Amino acid sequence: MNNDNTDRIFQPLLFRHLTVKNRLFRSSISGRWDNYDGSGTHARLNWEEKFARGGVGAIITSFVPVHVRGRILPNYAMIDHDDKIPFWREAVKRVHTHDCKLIMQLSHSGRQRDVPGIENQMNVGLSSTDKMDTFHGLLCRAMTQKEIADVTGYFVAGARRAREAGLDGIELHASHGYLFTQFLSSGINDRKDEYGGSLENRARFLIETVRAIRKEVGDDYHLQVKINAFDENNALYPWEKKGNSVEESIQLCQWLEKENVDCLHISAGSLFPHPLVPPGGFPLDVAKWTYGAMISSGVRGYFNYTFFHYRCLRPLFAWLWNRTKKRYPIEGVSSEACGLIKAKVNVPVLNTGGYQNGVLIRKVIEAGICDGVAIARPLIANPDLPHILAEGRDEPDKPCSFCNRCLLNAPANPLGCYDLRRFDGDYDAMIADIMSVFHPPAFPE
Ligand SMILES: Cc1cc2nc3c(=O)[nH]c(=O)nc-3n(C[C@H](O)[C@H](O)[C@H](O)COP(=O)(O)O)c2cc1C
Ligand code: SF4
Repeated sequence: MNNDNTDRIFQPLLFRHLTVKNRLFRSSISGRWDNYDGSGTHARLNWEEKFARGGVGAIITSFVPVHVRGRILPNYAMIDHDDKIPFWREAVKRVHTHDCKLIMQLSHSGRQRDVPGIENQMNVGLSSTDKMDTFHGLLCRAMTQKEIADVTGYFVAGARRAREAGLDGIELHASHGYLFTQFLSSGINDRKDEYGGSLENRARFLIETVRAIRKEVGDDYHLQVKINAFDENNALYPWEKKGNSVEESIQLCQWLEKENVDCLHISAGSLFPHPLVPPGGFPLDVAKWTYGAMISSGVRGYFNYTFFHYRCLRPLFAWLWNRTKKRYPIEGVSSEACGLIKAKVNVPVLNTGGYQNGVLIRKVIEAGICDGVAIARPLIANPDLPHILAEGRDEPDKPCSFCNRCLLNAPANPLGCYDLRRFDGDYDAMIADIMSVFHPPAFPE
């Protein structure tokens, strides 16, 4: 066993107001487990508990919308009303049983809504801009300042509810192209008022929200922010603007630190999915199912679907998608930029993107690139990865291949590992594994 105090992976991570038993965080992984109205189900409880049992120190919930207009897909548990508090209290209880912490990712989609749901069908998404999202063509309009203040209020109420439910902390989702990114990114934000233009103006909405949350929940409640170290906003379409640089992100992180943010969670990219996030493959054979489900969501939905449906068109997309990727590793995709940020701040830093291998995880922590890693897909594939690493092994026997089949199935199908090779070609075994999240059932005998 490597699980002793000489192994950096298994040393506790001390934040200002929270201690996590090791350096392995379950990163947010959204799945459509819940009821249409955003109330949570037994499947989500089973899902979160699975990773707690597997040995991670903390779980960052999936994207939890603070308002119905801010959801990505229906059937995600929300935190838009006090009636959601009891469900989250139960989630905390289940996760705490395994000496694991639960941090809620407070989120708003802005324009980036895969399937907006019936409540949003008549409303375009809210954003910093009137420009639609470049990948899916999701329509939007620039928010008024009154709407910005209203959304800040939804985040504040969400934070208060998370604290009342006993969550160990909150994370503001300011990465991957969702609403805060739409303000932060110079590739997206084209406003002319005090919420657009300079970095200081683009960061205003996020900073004001952090301040308002602090006022509501106090200074002693763990608050972290997930941001992109760099955008590569033109990764898919070269004629778009490139977006934020690492230098701008360093400045943003320093401002956040001044606002008493307890931890910075570093990712990359400005849309979701993005060639760099999650890093790895883009299985074009699965994409036609995804874009079948999203065909009417954005004005480019049908165009994308056509591209993926006809085999002859797929190589052109693959060329566009893979252009930028070549410059970055899959494992530790944003580690270099994360190290640059870590060197300029004093609060603990988490890094996400391609962490599975124990040697690499130890290396980035020991080299001072980050204090811990946030893992998504390798834990879908092997929820007991922490136990495997604690045994001194570098990788599971059947590691995650970073193929992204889980990701592309997620809008239409239950979340799980869809890489048939990991199940030795046994389709029934793969489906049984995916469906295991529904056990134990909601109403056991
Ligand atoms: C199916 C799926 C759903 C995801 N949902 C979220 C989410 O809700 N919020 C978020 O910040 N990141 C989300 N991510 C990104 C992950 O949290 C993580 O940052 C990214 O996948 C890189 O980590 P990995 O290489 O360990 O998968 C998701 C990723 C996947 C594959
Ligand atoms: S489908 Fe499985 S192997 Fe592929 S990225 Fe997802 S978890 Fe990893």
